[in-house]
Amino acid sequence: MKIGVLGSGAVGVALTRGLLREGHEVWIATREPESDKAEKLREELDGVTVCDFAQAATHAELAILCVKWVGAKDAVTAAGAENLAGKTVIDTSNVLSPADDGVVYAGHDQSAAEQVQQWLPTSNVIKAFNTVGAATMYQPDFGGMRPTMFVAGNDAAAKNEVRGLAESFGWEVLDAGSLRLARSLEEMAIVWINNSIKSGSPHHAFKML
Ligand SMILES: NC(=O)c1ccc[n+]([C@@H]2O[C@H](COP(=O)([O-])OP(=O)(O)OC[C@H]3O[C@@H](n4cnc5c(N)ncnc54)[C@H](OP(=O)(O)O)[C@@H]3O)[C@@H](O)[C@H]2O)c1
Repeated sequence: MKIGVLGSGAVGVALTRGLLREGHEVWIATREPESDKAEKLREELDGVTVCDFAQAATHAELAILCVKWVGAKDAVTAAGAENLAGKTVIDTSNVLSPADDGVVYAGHDQSAAEQVQQWLPTSNVIKAFNTVGAATMYQPDFGGMRPTMFVAGNDAAAKNEVRGLAESFGWEVLDAGSLRLARSLEEMAIVWINNSIKSGSPHHAFKML
C-alpha cells in the first residue's frame, strides 16, 4: 500500500520503519525535505521517499498524521485537504501540558482527532497509535502476549483498514467506538506517558483482558 507519513519525529520514523518492513511504499513528510535531517532519514530508512507534506499526502492511499500538536493544523494545511479527500487518515496526536507530577491532558471541548476531522472534512479520520510510545509501536515484545491497540473513528471501512495495519504490526485491536470517543484514548495516553516518566522506560502497553 502507498502510505504517507505526515511527520518525521519519533512516531513518524518508528511507523515508517515498520511500514517498510511490512512491504509498504512510504512517503515521509518534513517541512524541509532538502535539509540534513531529511538526508539522515534517507540513510536510516532504506527505500523511503522523504518529501514535503503535500507530496506525501498526494501519493498516499492512506496517511498518518504524526506531528507535534501545536504544528498539526499547519501540517494538515500544508498536506492539503484536497490531497487527502476520500482517504483514511490515522491521527496519532496527543494534546498535553507538562505538570509537576508528569503531564496532564490539555484537550478542551473536543478531541484532537475531532479537530483533525474538521480540518479534513472529506477524509476518514481514525484515532490509533496514540496510546503507546514510538519505541513500542512495531512488533511489541511482551513475551508472546499481544497488547491492545485502541482505535476510534466513524467510518467502518477505514477503521477496518487501520485494524489490518495494527494487526500486521503485532497488536490485537479493540474498536473503542466513534470518533468522539477518541478523547478517551487521548486521556489514556496520559496514563501511558506518566508511567513512562515514572518508570524511565517505554516498555509497557495496555491490554484488555
Ligand atoms: N513520541 C511518542 O512516543 C508518541 C507516541 C504516541 C503519540 N505521540 C504523538 O504523536 C505526535 C508526533 O509526536 P513525535 O514525538 O513523533 O514528534 P514531535 O516532535 O511531536 O513532532 C515532530 C514533527 O512535527 C513537525 N512539526 C512541528 N511543528 C510543525 C509545524 N508548525 N508545521 C508542520 N510540522 C511541524 C516536525 O516537522 P519537521 O520535520 O519539518 O521538523 C516533525 O515532523 C504528537 O502529537 C505526539 O503527542 C507521540
